[in-house]
Amino acid sequence: MDAFLSHTTGKNIWQSELIRKYDLAGPRYTSYPTALQFSDKVGFEQWKAAVDNSNAQQTPLSLYFHIPFCDTVCYYCACSKIITANKKIAEPYLHKLMREISLQAHHISPTRSVKQLHWGGGTPTYLNHEEMSAIMSAIKQNFAWLNDDSGEYSIEIHPAGVDTKRISQLRSLGFNRLSMGIQDFDPQVQRAVNRFNSQAEVKRLIQAVRQQGFRSISMDLIYGLPKQSCNSFARTLDCIIELSPDRVSLFNYAHMPHLFKTQKQIDARELPEPQEKLDILKLSIEKLLSAGYVYIGMDHFAKPDDELATAQAAGTLQRNFQGYATHADCDLHGFGLTSISAIGDVLIQNVKQLNEYAEKIDDGVIPHFQGVVLSKDDNIRKAIINNLMCHFQITFKEIETVFNIDFQHYFAKELMLLKEMQNDGLVQLDKHGLYVNTAGRLLIRRICMVFDSYLHSGAHTPTSHTAAKRYSRII
Ligand SMILES: C[S@@+](CC[C@H](N)C(=O)[O-])C[C@H]1O[C@@H](n2cnc3c(N)ncnc32)[C@H](O)[C@@H]1O
Ligand code: SF4
Repeated sequence: MDAFLSHTTGKNIWQSELIRKYDLAGPRYTSYPTALQFSDKVGFEQWKAAVDNSNAQQTPLSLYFHIPFCDTVCYYCACSKIITANKKIAEPYLHKLMREISLQAHHISPTRSVKQLHWGGGTPTYLNHEEMSAIMSAIKQNFAWLNDDSGEYSIEIHPAGVDTKRISQLRSLGFNRLSMGIQDFDPQVQRAVNRFNSQAEVKRLIQAVRQQGFRSISMDLIYGLPKQSCNSFARTLDCIIELSPDRVSLFNYAHMPHLFKTQKQIDARELPEPQEKLDILKLSIEKLLSAGYVYIGMDHFAKPDDELATAQAAGTLQRNFQGYATHADCDLHGFGLTSISAIGDVLIQNVKQLNEYAEKIDDGVIPHFQGVVLSKDDNIRKAIINNLMCHFQITFKEIETVFNIDFQHYFAKELMLLKEMQNDGLVQLDKHGLYVNTAGRLLIRRICMVFDSYLHSGAHTPTSHTAAKRYSRII
């Protein structure tokens, strides 16, 4: 843990000139290679070989369930979701999802314990308690669920659709961690994005969550939304600090209506100017750090005793499709529309269309769509990017020992590219390793991009038009 960062104000981490120079569009590296490298050549055969290998090693499991439905649309949303107030639509999906659970479980050794579980969306609480219970029963029947509450079992909550009774039902199903989408408490901002929840409502829920013994509460905020200003967001942050979640995710709103249709409903003239947006981020970092949160990396903050912070200190933090995670040793199996699995060297994604999903399940096949098998070079770069994202440093010897390479020779081009960042004070390089300075931490994605061979080999170099269209800006 970097004591300096956890106790400093935003002053050291915030370097306006460097942000202006290095804030390009780039990937978020929830995986390396990113989904742009997936192809339909990778399917069941590669998935099965990876699962067999993990069965032999009894690798523990992390399970992800995607519930794609939402009642109403939040205009900013870039998630994979289906908006419908007709709850009947969910029913057939749930049957298919339960069928997928048994289709995958058929190949997975039943003694591999489920150390982690996450339900995301969309809005998992779109489902009623009975529907959720049915899915949970299917999970518990097919996998080695940990009955002693020692697993990390989490769910994403939209506070608007949840009451205190629901919170206790979620706990009874086995969830012990919870993340809540807040985004912004300001009524004008809420109107501009069509998403409503009051601080009083959230406070009641948080009290229930604590009474029920949930072990970690996380809250999502977004900066850069329409009608947001430093003053308005300062009030939201004060409310959040008072509610005192264990983790805060502070996401950058990327206005990309060409990619996400619902964003067309946002009036671009109401978005904060770039300088105001940067000021909002700076203020947020200052407020969260001085309230005692630690900057974990990317968009994440946590209390010093939260598992994310302790995993970072212990060197076990990793990145996965849900952001930062604490179990580096698990295979991730995704279930449901668009979900992604990471099993050994295989990354594989399910289909994205509801009818295609249903057809494949009815045919008795796991609904894979596309994926990639990591090469040795991918694995080396993945390890480097993971270390930089989670621990802000790489020790050359460690990489050399694991992968049997000469780091200086293998990465001669990258080390040259890093010289400019070194001169600008973002990183330090010596013969033993690469260390990210405090000033480089907000720009960590940009530093990782140096090691991304796909960005440099293809049409989409970091500065190109294509990258700007596909990826959000870093800050
Ligand atoms: C699947 S949603 C969370 C669960 C639930 N649907 C909700 O809205 O409360 C995950 C999070 O992604 C973030 N998010 C969604 N669209 C975004 C965008 N365009 N830019 C930045 N963050 C976004 C929001 O903070 C949201 O809480
Ligand atoms: S932010 Fe959450 S509730 Fe809103 S549309 Fe996206 S997934 Fe649905």
